[in-house]
Amino acid sequence: MQVIKYVFQPHGDDRGQLVALEEFRDIPFRIKRVYYMYDTGAGVTRGYHAHRSLQQILICIHGSCKIRLDNGKEKKVIPLEKPYEGLYVSNAMWREMYDFSPDAVLMVLASELYDEKDYIRNYDEFLEYVKNLEETDEKGPEKK
Ligand code: TYD
Repeated sequence: MQVIKYVFQPHGDDRGQLVALEEFRDIPFRIKRVYYMYDTGAGVTRGYHAHRSLQQILICIHGSCKIRLDNGKEKKVIPLEKPYEGLYVSNAMWREMYDFSPDAVLMVLASELYDEKDYIRNYDEFLEYVKNLEETDEKGPEKK
């Protein structure tokens, strides 16, 4: 499983640091939504879902947390602890976010507006979804 981590360019000078993110230049999709999590309780794990189409970039702009990614075959844990690092999370990827430091702010850039229909919240359904995607890829699109 390939993990795609972006390292953004900080524009630093003696006043401090600044990171600017532009769609299609720094971020590989049109940014339709931004949300962020903060004040996450100790020991909390969030996420536990995948998306049918949504792509995201996760940036822990303050503090630190860990992301567990699972493509249905393999799992990887990616620590996020720098405000200039972004983790790309594709569609059809189960994610769990945990180990938030008390000061953590996890910001998410999303390719689509919020749509509950795009969520897969049941793990068995996710595994089935990934299997069907693979079978469609192997066979190619169904011909009529
Ligand atoms: P939820 O999907 O439970 O977050 P997690 O990523 O941890 O699974 O979202 C928490 C609440 O916020 C839920 O009531 C839905 C709402 N929400 C929005 O209204 N818009 C959004 O863009 C997101 C991500 C969540």
